[in-house]
Amino acid sequence: MQSKHIVIIGGTSGSGRVLVRRLSENQARVSLLGRHPSPEVQQHLPGVHFYPVDLQNISTVLEVINKVVADNGKITHLIFFQRFREKENNWEGELQISLTATKEIIEAGTEVFDGSGENSIVVVSSIAGHLIHSEQPVSYHVAKSGLNQMVRYYAVLLGSRGIRVNCVSPSIMMKDESRQYYVEKEDLRKLYEKIIPLHRMGKAEDIADVIEFLCSDKASYITGQEIIVDGGLSLVGQSSLAKHLWDTNHLKIT
Ligand SMILES: NC(=O)c1ccc[n+]([C@@H]2O[C@H](COP(=O)([O-])OP(=O)(O)OC[C@H]3O[C@@H](n4cnc5c(N)ncnc54)[C@H](OP(=O)(O)O)[C@@H]3O)[C@@H](O)[C@H]2O)c1
Repeated sequence: MQSKHIVIIGGTSGSGRVLVRRLSENQARVSLLGRHPSPEVQQHLPGVHFYPVDLQNISTVLEVINKVVADNGKITHLIFFQRFREKENNWEGELQISLTATKEIIEAGTEVFDGSGENSIVVVSSIAGHLIHSEQPVSYHVAKSGLNQMVRYYAVLLGSRGIRVNCVSPSIMMKDESRQYYVEKEDLRKLYEKIIPLHRMGKAEDIADVIEFLCSDKASYITGQEIIVDGGLSLVGQSSLAKHLWDTNHLKIT
């Protein structure tokens, strides 16, 4: 992604942080927006410019987008990783951080794309846009399915301007922040590995790979699509999964 100017929303932790590191290694120009810079960004990652923003305050974010362009040039790619993580107010908060912020930034950002005809937007969604993960609130599911439709909407609207819009939907993933959890819960990790058709958990690097592909000219005829990155987990039928867990004594019925 050399010589491109990539704006990343919410790449200060988790899977976004991995992509930011990788882009820095590849000498890309990155403008990173979030509230808390990661330790490596604080210590200076080459090519990465951090802009503190709170996506709850959208008018400030739009001012920051203008500053990003003034400092680092017009945008070639726009990538959304943000995830609402507060315990309180999760209906309004989730819709604001996931849906409203994405819509407002896309609408402002497309005005400041470089017009090369090779621009793209990638939104990180979730398999929860289709399936129900009962440990997550309803707001997360609604926001993710809304993002999927938003991607299709903007793909149609922005195609004539040479802007492709796609999304990536992970399922359960191992990231730096959750590694210790899965070290402590080794049985759970092994169980996930067993039921995932590719027999391993997803990694932040898997998401970064797909985003790099979607932002490359190898994807130049792909727009409005969702790529599910889950090792095939969402394809497994619930009844055969239940049968497998039953057969292998993994199912506890209390
Ligand atoms: N982890 C998984 O297993 C998994 C599974 C399926 C889908 N996903 C999706 O993948 C994406 C990344 O997930 P993740 O777990 O890697 O995320 P994460 O570690 O929770 O990171 C979320 C990012 O959102 C930013 N953010 C949150 N609230 C913000 C606010 N008010 N203003 C500005 N930035 C804000 C955070 O930045 P600051 O803290 O710096 O503000 C952070 O960089 C999300 O869209 C998530 O839904 C993840």
